[in-house]
Amino acid sequence: MLTVSNLSVQFGKRVLFDEVNATFTQGNCYGIIGANGAGKSTFLKIIAGDIDPTSGHVILEPGKRMSVLNQNHNMFDEHTVLETVLMGNKVLFAVKKEMDELYADYSDENADRIGELQLQFDEMNGWNADSDAASMLSNLGISEDLHYTLMSEVEPKLKVRVLLAQALFGNPDVLVMDEPTNDLDFETIGWLENFLANYENTVLVVSHDRHFLDAVCTHISDIDFGKINHFSGNYTFWYESSQLAAKQRAQQNKKAEEKKAELEEFIRRFSANVAKSKQATSRKKMIEKLNVNEIKPSSRRYPAIIFEQEREAGDQILNIQGLAASAEGETLFKNVDFNMAKGDKVVVFSKDSRATTAFYEILNSNLKADAGTFEWGITTTQSYLPADNHDFFTEDLTLVDWLRQWAKTEEERDEVYVRGFLGKMIFSGEEALKKGSVLSGGEKVRCMISRMMMIRANVLMLDEPTNHLDLESITAFNNSLKNFKGSVLLTTHDHEFAQTVGNRILELTPNGVIDRYMTFDEYLDDPKIKELREKMYS
Ligand SMILES: Nc1ncnc2c1ncn2[C@@H]1O[C@H](COP(=O)(O)OP(=O)(O)O)[C@@H](O)[C@H]1O
Ligand SMILES: [Mg+2]
Repeated sequence: MLTVSNLSVQFGKRVLFDEVNATFTQGNCYGIIGANGAGKSTFLKIIAGDIDPTSGHVILEPGKRMSVLNQNHNMFDEHTVLETVLMGNKVLFAVKKEMDELYADYSDENADRIGELQLQFDEMNGWNADSDAASMLSNLGISEDLHYTLMSEVEPKLKVRVLLAQALFGNPDVLVMDEPTNDLDFETIGWLENFLANYENTVLVVSHDRHFLDAVCTHISDIDFGKINHFSGNYTFWYESSQLAAKQRAQQNKKAEEKKAELEEFIRRFSANVAKSKQATSRKKMIEKLNVNEIKPSSRRYPAIIFEQEREAGDQILNIQGLAASAEGETLFKNVDFNMAKGDKVVVFSKDSRATTAFYEILNSNLKADAGTFEWGITTTQSYLPADNHDFFTEDLTLVDWLRQWAKTEEERDEVYVRGFLGKMIFSGEEALKKGSVLSGGEKVRCMISRMMMIRANVLMLDEPTNHLDLESITAFNNSLKNFKGSVLLTTHDHEFAQTVGNRILELTPNGVIDRYMTFDEYLDDPKIKELREKMYS
């Protein structure tokens, strides 16, 4: 259906793709993954025809239509919502535009051309386009009173939905999306997951969102070392099976048949779990096609994130009474009463990210509350990963000296000891002597995690920890928090992280808190809580 042949891409000396051959088959959903800068966005731009490869070809089966989810949210500001959706079918839109113009200036000379255009318009079912676009919008929760509003006047959250409608309009044979879940709230992501899981056409999507990848993908396309390799299954299958294969490679005394049987058993258990999951979708067909021979050991380097506690905390962890905060005169939260028990892993949640950030800033004494008190248990020690780490990187220190700032003893100041923590986050050799000021966003977060590991606190506070991190780091980070024996306060837009770490949800709203011992999915799915949440924010 979509074939890439002998594709090479080079920017200056840097080779991104080297003679890549790949086929994307009708009806599959390919999750494209790879390290930061591996070339995922570039690959999608080449597929979409926005940029030319250095050599090679992209071939779409004749008669098939491709559509791309636009990443520039403001590109259609001068158009109405309905028009923006119609523009998703470029050919149809061009025909209609020319037809409208010729009609406005009708003469015998252009009658022939109008006839031609009408024929094309008929063939594309153009007369239904407006009503198709309108129902597409309504399905996406954009009510009719907005259909003739200018895009510039639509709130950002709804704008994204309009652009989705644009991409999906006219049922494209191939749908291409680069990080579509960025900036979307959990509800909209959930809607998109559901939609794509039931979508019958081909999808190519780049994403760092593991919950999303697991919900929609039939295949993982891994970009590594200038090549693209397809694997059947979703992200979790790819991750766990390739880890298992890597482990097996090291077990030299184990027989080949035993290894094969182990992989088969793994596939059997995985498939049974997918079959049990609540998502009943056509994408589930993929689980019938999982094959032992396709599993390859992972060659990725995963950071080794391990959080240890210097000492265990007693029973008193954190007690909060009547806490309140505001920003620019607006109440962010109030009446927060909260008693944290030992071992609680709390997902601190709010529709307004200013509320969750203010909550952590208050608990870390960087901000004064409007009202209320909080008290840490005397045996607790805390470490905090703030959403904004800018203040940590103002001095021009090498990473070794940077991290040494948090050494508590002479022994901990030792370079080998400090380098141990940097090495776990894959800063080794020369890398550890880089200056903090030149680091990328992802590298800074990796430093902050090294710091957190070195502090060995028994309470961890994490405000959007996965920002800027690649999938390998997110996965390693997530696993380490699942295994951490201490207590955690966590805010994240990563669904999988929240679902697999948290055992308690604390939602901060302008009208008080909702506090429940349950998983994040249970919390989002509970109809009573949904009702309550709506009330609390109004
Ligand atoms: N037009 C360009 N000229 C030179 N280098 C580029 C250009 N576009 C992208 N790059 C580089 O190519 C690499 C891959 O970029 P990109 O495809 O955006 O990566 P990804 O989406 O996987 O993070 C990056 O190192 C980027 O800086
Ligand atoms: Mg990209």
